[in-house]
Amino acid sequence: MEVKCLLLLALFLLLGTHGGEAQPLVPAVMTFGDSSVDVGNNDYLKTIIKANFPPYGRDFKNQVPTGRFCNGKLATDITAETLGFESYAPAYLSPDASGKNLLIGANFASAGSGYYDHTALLYHAIPLSQQLEYFEEYQSKLAAVAGSSQAQSIINGSLYIISAGASDFVQNYYINPFLYKTQTADQFSDRLVGIFKNTVAQLYSMGARRIGVTSLPPLGCLPAAITLFGYGSSGCVSRLNSDAQNFNGKMNVTVDSLSKTYSDLKIAVFDIYTPLYDLVTSPQSQGFTEARRGCCGTGTVETTVLLCNPKSIGTCPNATTYVFWDAVHPSEAANQVLADSLLAEGINLVT
Ligand SMILES: *[C@@H]1O[C@H](CO)[C@@H](O)[C@H](O)[C@H]1NC(C)=O
Ligand SMILES: *[C@@H]1O[C@H](CO)[C@@H](O)[C@H](O)[C@H]1NC(C)=O
Ligand SMILES: *[C@@H]1O[C@H](CO)[C@@H](O)[C@H](O)[C@H]1NC(C)=O
Repeated sequence: MEVKCLLLLALFLLLGTHGGEAQPLVPAVMTFGDSSVDVGNNDYLKTIIKANFPPYGRDFKNQVPTGRFCNGKLATDITAETLGFESYAPAYLSPDASGKNLLIGANFASAGSGYYDHTALLYHAIPLSQQLEYFEEYQSKLAAVAGSSQAQSIINGSLYIISAGASDFVQNYYINPFLYKTQTADQFSDRLVGIFKNTVAQLYSMGARRIGVTSLPPLGCLPAAITLFGYGSSGCVSRLNSDAQNFNGKMNVTVDSLSKTYSDLKIAVFDIYTPLYDLVTSPQSQGFTEARRGCCGTGTVETTVLLCNPKSIGTCPNATTYVFWDAVHPSEAANQVLADSLLAEGINLVT
């Protein structure tokens, strides 16, 4: 808590003012990845993985479901606010991603996507490789709006956030015999981290100089995972958690090596494993009352379709004390906790 206050104070001082108007710490935020950060790209796709209907978004601005897999703000929305943005970079496929809005960045993320393009293809989502192609297209649109030299400084000053990997495991590897019978989780992790490494190389060659990547969450503590893989036990599934930590260790090593390879690249891992694990295992200590079930529906089986919907029976009246909003995704209240930790770990990316 104290650390958080100090950080906020430091950021506040850094933000400063410029002609009376607060200037965000970075010119723009660019986001890539899966449903943890998708702000509505999937609304424009023919996919079953959508969240643009109630009760999603019921605590968001104007109670509007946007396609965010949450009752309210995502951790990245909260981070953008803390960095000094008054509005969020729009979903790249939305009509909002044009003109002046291009100047605050773009969100290329797509629920159901992962590092491994095959995961996205299964769910008709936007593969990460395609997200990078959209980013290239975005760069020319940005240059047309801002002029090429301003566009260049937006590109190299922006914060790039990558959040992926959970779908590769939960929505692909663990349920796909072609994967789990032919390779171990460790081998699959190597493959994903290899793709991550390539992605960073590509972003770097396109001008990115500040990159934050989230770790995997404690996969075995997601309500859906406990229901599907917990064999009736209500505790976190330790096999899945150790797979996630194994992946996270590889991610740490890779990020260290990338920062040595590219001396002018700032890159950091946002460890969301630890804060989410702590929330799930001792919710009361942080004011939460429910960590096993998501707020929406029964919160345990909305996993086969991975969604909650307007007809879900049993949705909780107030999600502020729930760690999970649906059976996979954290509530806005939990995202606030994750965003605090993102900020602590990413502070040198933006200073
Ligand atoms: C971005 O480019 C400008 C002009 O080339 C340079 O002054 C600045 O240091 C660069 N910023 C980053 C974060 O690399
Ligand atoms: C990765 O590095 C972070 C920051 O140093 C650390 O907190 C975390 O425990 C590491 N994770 C693993 C799995 O080694
Ligand atoms: C939910 O509960 C919190 C804390 O008691 C309260 O501040 C908030 O207004 C409530 N939200 C709704 C939608 O009732």
